[in-house]
Amino acid sequence: MQKLIRASLFAALGAAAVLFAFGSVTAAPADDKLPEIAEIMKKGHAKTDGYITKVKEAVKGGKWEDAQKYAKDMNILGAAIGKNKPPKGDDKSWKALTDKYADTTQKILKGTEDKDAKATNAAISTISMSCGGCHSKHKPK
Ligand code: HEC
Repeated sequence: MQKLIRASLFAALGAAAVLFAFGSVTAAPADDKLPEIAEIMKKGHAKTDGYITKVKEAVKGGKWEDAQKYAKDMNILGAAIGKNKPPKGDDKSWKALTDKYADTTQKILKGTEDKDAKATNAAISTISMSCGGCHSKHKPK
């Protein structure tokens, strides 16, 4: 009996995890396939119209609804990056760095939801300082 309960609990958790993963992928802004790393990089970090810049400017202007919208899209990309295979480098390092990236885009989203400029900007700085560390390990020349 114990075993049965445990098995069905695992089954339920598994289904929830699949739903969650599926949900975040299908919610991707471009289309319903997994965004590639280069696409995530461009959409997230492009100097003038990347999500990071857009969130930063919206926060500066006190436009929290815009900030939340961009942060939400950014967070979808953050959740998707680690599902890609890195073009270079080992999987363990990739997992650690992409987990951190996803965690940070989530912090940006939470910051905008809380209308907390300080927290939002702190998380944006974390991403801004993370570029080289990941590129040196995983970006082909
Ligand atoms: C978690 C790892 C990671 C982080 C953090 C990261 N990048 Fe990247 N980036 C990559 C990888 C991997 C590639 C190579 C993608 C490929 O060649 O398929 C890349 C490629 C790029 C490219 C080239 C895209 C193209 O058109 O091929 C740009 C531009 C870029 N990153 C900018 C940034 C900036 C700016 C930051 C920081 C704000 C950043 N990246 C943070 C992993 C990362």
